[in-house]
Amino acid sequence: MSGLDDVIAAETALSEVDGLNGRLVICGHELQTLAGQCSWEAVLSLLLAGLSDMSEANIRARLAPARIEVFHQLAHLDGDLLRLSNTEGLRALMARLPDGEDVDTAMLLAAAPAVFVPALVRRKAGFAAIPPSLEHGHAEDMLAMLRGAMPTPAETAALDAYLVTVSDHGLNASTFAARVVASTRAGYTSAVLAALGALKGPLHGGAPGPVLDMLDAVGKPERAREVLAADLAAGNRLMGFGHRIYRVRDPRADALKSALQHLGAAGGGNTERLALAETVEREALALLRQKKPDRPLETNVEFFTALLLEALGFPREAFTGVFAAGRVGGWLAHAHEQVAKGRLIRPQSRYIGPRAA
Ligand code: ACO
Repeated sequence: MSGLDDVIAAETALSEVDGLNGRLVICGHELQTLAGQCSWEAVLSLLLAGLSDMSEANIRARLAPARIEVFHQLAHLDGDLLRLSNTEGLRALMARLPDGEDVDTAMLLAAAPAVFVPALVRRKAGFAAIPPSLEHGHAEDMLAMLRGAMPTPAETAALDAYLVTVSDHGLNASTFAARVVASTRAGYTSAVLAALGALKGPLHGGAPGPVLDMLDAVGKPERAREVLAADLAAGNRLMGFGHRIYRVRDPRADALKSALQHLGAAGGGNTERLALAETVEREALALLRQKKPDRPLETNVEFFTALLLEALGFPREAFTGVFAAGRVGGWLAHAHEQVAKGRLIRPQSRYIGPRAA
């Protein structure tokens, strides 16, 4: 009851999370047939199919100019904003976009995290922001804006695989927040801001940075068991493990591990880091089984997210923003679906406080 487990709060044609069998279906397609096989724009065209003519070509034709339009918001990046964390800076910049329930608003919002996250990384490090390009695909442009140099095709493919993998995932906390706000007809920007606020927490999209902190604390594979056991004994949760819905391994973990292996085979990534991560994963799963024999706690999406985004050169404080760059597709699709087919979401609470005499 306290976490609304098993409550069906919406009907959706966007994605299905099968927690018992470890399957994720997005718009009728198994995750494995999308991640590593197509671009984020292609998946966005599936998710936003109900909004307008959302063919992949049309998405590409609209998304690149939208990136250029939101880039102008960076004129408002002042010292106060640069002192915020990357996610808070992203939230502040996205709040400047106008509200609406139309395709133009949706495209600005879809474009925004991919522009703002790299710009914030660069400006906070004392470098100029790199403008977007009409010539690049979305993932390629995001990496080019981060580095000021073109990524390799393997790096672009790895980021696309990531953005696709996290593009939608049933009624997770941030998507639910987006649907609640969209149901009031406040507009897509308000819905996406609510979602971003929910994503930021460490129990949702804030976990991958702490996954790397955990790997750093372990340092060497032979220390994994000792460090993780001490962490658990101190009452901490192991970041990147456990999930509300999955009772088996999160299929997104394997999609991202495979993206990481492809990147490694193409000469990117860090094989030593991957070997350390594999030991940490094995030891963590063994310890969690010992600690909670009745509650299956498996690897979730955030564990390999951390390694993949690190290999692509994103600093850990930007990981949640990169997650938002993929998930914004799902948030917009759910906001649209809610507006088109849903009613005001207004559940009830049971009063357990004192009664007037
Ligand atoms: N490490 C240690 N113990 C854990 C973990 C973990 N990662 N996950 C759950 N548990 C334990 C809890 O302490 C709890 O024990 P208790 O009953 O003795 O109190 C039990 O397992 C059940 O935990 P709940 O919090 O009820 O499970 P819930 O379904 O609400 O939690 C969650 C899911 C929040 C993801 C949790 O597993 C967690 O905190 N994981 C670590 C953070 C993380 O990886 N977040 C990213 C999630 S993926 C995503 O949102 C994109």
